[in-house]
Formats: sequence, structure tokens, C-alpha cells
Amino acid sequence: MGIMSRTPLIAGNWKMNLDHLQAIATVQKLAWTLKDARHDFDDVEVAVFPPFTDLRSVQTLISADKLPIRFGGQDVSRYASGAYTGEISGAFLAALDAAYVIVGHSERRMMHAETDQIVAEKTAAAVQHGVVPVVCVGETSEDRESRGAGVVPVEQLQVVLDAVQPAEIVVAYEPVWAIGSGQAATPDQAQEDCGALRRAIAGAWGDEAATATRVLYGGSVKSGNIAGFMREPDIDGALVGGASLDVAEFAAIARFRQHVGL
Ligand code: 13P
Repeated sequence: MGIMSRTPLIAGNWKMNLDHLQAIATVQKLAWTLKDARHDFDDVEVAVFPPFTDLRSVQTLISADKLPIRFGGQDVSRYASGAYTGEISGAFLAALDAAYVIVGHSERRMMHAETDQIVAEKTAAAVQHGVVPVVCVGETSEDRESRGAGVVPVEQLQVVLDAVQPAEIVVAYEPVWAIGSGQAATPDQAQEDCGALRRAIAGAWGDEAATATRVLYGGSVKSGNIAGFMREPDIDGALVGGASLDVAEFAAIARFRQHVGL
């Protein structure tokens, strides 16, 4: 795991699952489970990323019950406001106290034709509104074989780093073959890419930014494999999809120190 100055982040990307009623029940249960386990949220941060229609309910629950869980959106418009039907402004997320927003998830890059340039603009929009972007990058297995480990994700991140002034961001390395497949990258593979991403941050934004920025691994993370990832020096947490929908499993991932002795 990364040096002590980087607080690990365990982030649950719910994707298009759980409506607002299910969201309330899930966040409540997650909070109770972690409280029962005496989880120290200052030691390992926990965040959920529900669908947009859930966010107001999640915010109301978290603020009313003063839950130490943070939350964010799954996407943000590159524009601040205007005639953009169906889009959500970073200003709206900020008004809901969303701490984070995912940008450039591979599902959006592929299914919504989001280019590196658009991802860079969304990153800038999030930063501008005071919402920390979780910038997702990733490669297919063909990319990795033909171009080399980390080359495509670094190229994707480089566009963002060149377009945006140094700011707090989170980077998530999610190899496409590992998402939802049950075939997670090995800790070695993930470290190789996360290390390359951190070096890209150092090159563009300087060593201080590179040391401060959290780099997450995502792709078939479970309670049974989180330990291996968290032992790596350049992996500061996980972006969890399917396993984040199961409260006991997600809580066990957040409790990785218990089962790895880290
Ligand atoms: P899975 O954990 O379901 O593989 O999804 C990973 C992911 O895409 C998180 O953003």
C-alpha cells in the first residue's frame, strides 16, 4: 500500500443498480456493518457512487445520521449549465455535498463515445465545481499485448494531466478485461500500471502531486483479493463494481487491514 500520507479509498461504483429506496437501505446497512466492526473511516475512507436519482436520498440520510460514508456521482457534464438535455452539472453535485464524481469509466468511453478530450473536460468541470474527479483509465488485453503494459492508460491520463491544472484528483486503473469478468489483474500487473500512472503524474504535475494523488485499482475486486492489491506501493485503494452491491462483501473489502495485517 501507498505511503501513510495517502489515505486508502475504497469506492463502490454501483453502476445502474439500486433505486433510491434500495440505496437508503444499502447505505444504512453499510454504516451499521462498519460501525459494528469499529471501522476507522479516517484510516480507510469509504465512498459509494449511486445512480443520480439516488443521490438526494443518500445525501439526506448521510447528513441526518452524520454517517462517515462519502458519496459521489457516476458521471458529470463538461458544461456548467444550459441546453444539455439529460446532463448533470458539477454545480448540482457540489450542491448535494458530493465529494467525488467518476469520469471516463470504460463503460462510458465505449458506450457513450467519450474521448480522452471529453474526459479531460469533465475532469476540469468537476475540479472547477469543487468535486474531486475519480478519473478512470484502462486498457484492453490487446492494448496491453500490442502496446505494452500501461501505455494506453498512461496516454489516456496524459490528455487529462495536460489539460487540467494540478488539483486533487483520484486516478482509477481499470483494465477492461478485468471488469465484471471475475478475472482480476494480478497485483503485479496492477502495480506495474499504477506505478506508470504515478510517474505520469510526476512528469506532468510534479513529484508532490504524484505523492499526494491516490491511484486505485478496479476490476473484479473482492474481499478475497483486496489484500494482494493493497500490499503494492502504488495502489491506494479500489474501485469496486459488483462486489459493492453486497454490503457484507463491500464492508469486508473496506476492512482489508483486518484480513491482511496491513
Ligand atoms: P467489477 O468490480 O464488477 O469488476 O467492476 C469494476 C468497475 O468497473 C468499477 O468501476
